[in-house]
Amino acid sequence: MVQATPFLLVLFLALGAHGLSVKKCSLTGRWVNDLGSNMTIMTVNANGDFAGSYHTAVSATSNEIKLSPLKGTLQKSPNQKGQPTFGFTVNWSFSDSITVFTGQCFVDEDGKEVLKTMWLLRSHVESIKSDWKATRVGINVFTRLPTQE
Ligand code: BTN
Repeated sequence: MVQATPFLLVLFLALGAHGLSVKKCSLTGRWVNDLGSNMTIMTVNANGDFAGSYHTAVSATSNEIKLSPLKGTLQKSPNQKGQPTFGFTVNWSFSDSITVFTGQCFVDEDGKEVLKTMWLLRSHVESIKSDWKATRVGINVFTRLPTQE
C-alpha cells in the first residue's frame, strides 16, 4: 500500500496533465477553404448555436459575389471529445440559392484545427421539371486564418 501510493500519484498527475494538454477544436474565428472562400464564425452560445458571415470565392451564377450570412449549430454532447460535429446554412445574399454544410472540427496530427465538411448547394429552378438538376454536392476543407490585430 505504501509503495503503491507514489505510483498512483504519478499516474494521476500524468493522466491529469494529458487531459489538460489535449487541444480542442473551436469553431469561433476566421477560416479559409480549399477554394479560397473565407468565413467568420462569431461566438458559439451555450446551446451550441452560432452565426457568422461567408465570402465565397466562386459561384454557380454570374452575379457579383457579396458577403452572405450563415447560421449554424454545434453538437454539444460530451462524447464529442473536443472535436465536435456541426452544421450551418449559408443564405446567399446575391443569388436565389442556399447551401447547407455539415462537418466535424478536428485537431490534426500537427495540432492544427481543420474543418472537414460536405455541402449541398440548392439552386432555384423555374419548375418541378428542372428539380433533378437543382442540387450540387461537394466537400470543403477549412483551415484557420491568423487572428487580426
Ligand atoms: C451561388 O452560386 O448561388 C452561391 C454561391 C455558392 C458557393 C458554393 S457553396 C459550396 C462551395 N464552397 C464554397 O466555398 N463556395 C461554393
